[in-house]
Amino acid sequence: MFPWRWLALLALIPLALSTNAGVKVKLTEKGLEFGRSLVVGSLQEKLKTINVPDISGKQRVSRIGKVRYTLSGMRVVDAGLPKSTLGLVPGTGVLLSISNAFLNLQGNWRIRYKIIKDHGSFKLGIKDLTISASISVRSDETGRPAVAMASCTSAVGAVSIKFRGGASWLYNLFDHYIKKSLRSTLQEKICPLVADSVSNLNQYLKTLNVLAPVDKYAEIAYFMVSSPEISKSSIELSLKGEFYNIGHHLEPPLAPTPFFLTDQEQSMVTIGISAFTANSATFVYNKAGILSINITDDMLGKLFPGLEMKLQLNMVKDPLIILEANNVTLAVGSSVMAYAIHTNGSLSPLFVLNLNASVSGQVSVTEKKLAGAVTLNGMDMSLGKSYVGDFQVKSLQSILQLVLKVAVLPRVNAQLDKGYPLPNLGKFSLVNTQVQVLKGYILIGTDIKLT
Ligand SMILES: *[C@@H]1O[C@H](CO)[C@@H](O)[C@H](O)[C@H]1NC(C)=O
Ligand SMILES: *[C@@H]1O[C@H](CO)[C@@H](O)[C@H](O)[C@H]1NC(C)=O
Ligand SMILES: *[C@@H]1O[C@H](CO)[C@@H](O)[C@H](O)[C@H]1NC(C)=O
Ligand SMILES: *[C@@H]1O[C@H](CO)[C@@H](O)[C@H](O)[C@H]1NC(C)=O
Repeated sequence: MFPWRWLALLALIPLALSTNAGVKVKLTEKGLEFGRSLVVGSLQEKLKTINVPDISGKQRVSRIGKVRYTLSGMRVVDAGLPKSTLGLVPGTGVLLSISNAFLNLQGNWRIRYKIIKDHGSFKLGIKDLTISASISVRSDETGRPAVAMASCTSAVGAVSIKFRGGASWLYNLFDHYIKKSLRSTLQEKICPLVADSVSNLNQYLKTLNVLAPVDKYAEIAYFMVSSPEISKSSIELSLKGEFYNIGHHLEPPLAPTPFFLTDQEQSMVTIGISAFTANSATFVYNKAGILSINITDDMLGKLFPGLEMKLQLNMVKDPLIILEANNVTLAVGSSVMAYAIHTNGSLSPLFVLNLNASVSGQVSVTEKKLAGAVTLNGMDMSLGKSYVGDFQVKSLQSILQLVLKVAVLPRVNAQLDKGYPLPNLGKFSLVNTQVQVLKGYILIGTDIKLT
């Protein structure tokens, strides 16, 4: 992406702060559970990489005398996080709680007292490790969500040690003097690893397609327009959700109206695409002139052999998409200019029709795109102007209807079938996706998985 595009995007953000969302994305409890598994999986790996520095010192041990000791080559051989929860603190953030975690380490010991030297290996077990960390969720400067660890505490429960070789008094030495420093050394290392594991999620969040290219005319803005909303059961993101002409962001004469996503607990993520978003698309495409279609002799010739005519379909206003429960309707107000084509190729105007059509739409999700298809519901027409004297418009009704069905709608459907990118994160794919049309928005419920 070119830097200027980013600058343009940044310039939009302050303006957008007060606007309503065109698209909403909600992470449900099931989605949070998935987030938890990512954080905990990452933490478990990181715990295995803990680097424990060598410990050495000298200590007077009763009946033995002064002992010099060194513990070296300590490494984590196993780490387990069997119990963890990710809870929501409404209005604040997310709380990660881990209990019953364990760490097993191995290392070597070496001691020297008087003239005696001895060495061997040991195993160290840390049990009942608990971690509690609060995580903040906010919008970063590019309008993408970002998480960070806000605070963290950890406590190491029981520490046990087993020596191979050596005398039994080694246990006393360890119990009294060494355990404490080892415990605090390890404890200090836990929270920074939690912070890393949380930040690790940002590599995914940073791939949110805040400006998704659609085709050569349009792109969709999906940056966040306000801070994430954290309730007791979900995290909701409000996204701009607006189609723009590429590089030329002109606001349409309509604004998003507030809408509320219904709960879809069986899905990890729910996405609501408002009627505003759909209508910002018709605005952009109509402005780009591509909703005007010339129905040429070729297309008509197949329908009506011998008819030397050209029809020019123009929108008189932006088509309006209306979303009702289980019902997508597109209201089209257009004019049709009819020309006769002479044998020398020149055109002479015949008449102008005012044509209103209503089409029904179906929506579907394939890959990470929302696609559609439309069928003709009905149409009304009247004569706007005639260059060939008065005639009965009704006689043209069935011809026009056929033209729409055979020459126009297939072209529209070919476009709609290509689909429009949904807000998404690069490395995830959508599974178990369901689409539903509700009043004012399209509701998509989906699970996600790492690809
Ligand atoms: C349709 O034809 C007219 C000329 O008759 C032309 O001006 C216009 O650009 C054409 N529109 C499209 C979309 O091809
Ligand atoms: C869909 O909604 C439109 C109005 O928005 C209405 O005219 C049409 O009858 C509805 N269709 C169905 C199948 O309910
Ligand atoms: C083309 O033919 C029509 C009718 O036959 C005629 O009116 C018109 O002048 C011709 N145009 C040219 C450019 O020859
Ligand atoms: C088309 O709809 C507009 C209102 O949107 C109305 O004024 C006009 O009369 C309608 N035309 C036809 C032919 O039904």
